[in-house]
Amino acid sequence: MAVCLITGGAGNLACQLTWTLAPRFERLVLFDVAPAPIGAVSANATFERGDLLDVQQLEELFKRHQPTTVIHLASLLSGSCEQNRKLGWQVNMDGTFSLFETALRHGRPTVLFASTIAAFGGVLPEVLTDETPQWPDGLYGVTKMAIERLGVYYHRQHGLDFRCLRLPITVSRHAPAGAASALASHAFIEAVRSGQFTFRSRPDTKLALIYVRDVLRAFAGLLGAPASQLAQRVYNLSAMTVTPQEIADAIQHRLPKAALRFEPDETVAALLASWPGVIDDRAARRDWSWCSEFDLARTADDFIGALRQEFARIAN
Ligand SMILES: NC(=O)c1ccc[n+]([C@@H]2O[C@H](COP(=O)([O-])OP(=O)(O)OC[C@H]3O[C@@H](n4cnc5c(N)ncnc54)[C@H](O)[C@@H]3O)[C@@H](O)[C@H]2O)c1
Repeated sequence: MAVCLITGGAGNLACQLTWTLAPRFERLVLFDVAPAPIGAVSANATFERGDLLDVQQLEELFKRHQPTTVIHLASLLSGSCEQNRKLGWQVNMDGTFSLFETALRHGRPTVLFASTIAAFGGVLPEVLTDETPQWPDGLYGVTKMAIERLGVYYHRQHGLDFRCLRLPITVSRHAPAGAASALASHAFIEAVRSGQFTFRSRPDTKLALIYVRDVLRAFAGLLGAPASQLAQRVYNLSAMTVTPQEIADAIQHRLPKAALRFEPDETVAALLASWPGVIDDRAARRDWSWCSEFDLARTADDFIGALRQEFARIAN
């Protein structure tokens, strides 16, 4: 029986992923320290509350469900890692180490991991490739880069089918509130919900963005690829390079009454400017036929349409 365990299963991407993966798995088990999923989940998904740092709990979880696939999304994100470095290290590093070890003891399921473009840093080239040296600036990126390496170690030395995507900034309904990377998501959400949004970025910073529906397709695509086709285990992903001004224009075009302003906050602006704007994902295209479907116009149409429906439902 095909069973998929999703760590961080109550979170933003996990909930949406259940709908994409529902037809592929008999059961999806969502595991998270949070009390309940943040969004709606598919009918074959069940939620189990628990802590990745509890080794015994993890062992019992694997014993009970015998997952054939694990999607590892549990993580402290960029802001939380800086606010609590010890917990960030523990959840991201110790938690992932325990997960890999538990997976080895329980039939070596495929493990798909969500890394990030924040695993790069320092002075970056104009175009970021899979070969660009990784010197992340934040602790979040440091842990993500280390997990990429750790996963490849478990693959080479212990036969674990580790696969990994480096996600650009994701435009998504439940983008975490405090993250600088959530700016694009919140611009759409607030423009529909309240009719106004203030960009804390500069208008002309180049941002590598991806719409969540493309992210979900990418998870499914890499998961479904025969292992023999994978020339590497960690893949850059790319969809679009846009500026905050272009995002504002795309929103304004569809919501002419929205009041959109720019009041750059230097910390946020500098952080966004330090991230890569253009990403080369040719290995993903070559090895598992990755191709993004959502440019900015399609993203704006789809996301604004979905948000309008949701908020109209809430209002009625
Ligand atoms: N959304 C993005 O833009 C983006 C971009 C790049 C990478 N990613 C990665 O994708 C993954 C999912 O992102 P998301 O947007 O859904 O974030 P999210 O914050 O909504 O989900 C992460 C989940 O991990 C859970 N978690 C934290 N500590 C835990 C623990 N000790 N035990 C069990 N669960 C724990 C949290 O409660 C949360 O529900 C993360 O690993 C993130 O780093 C996301």
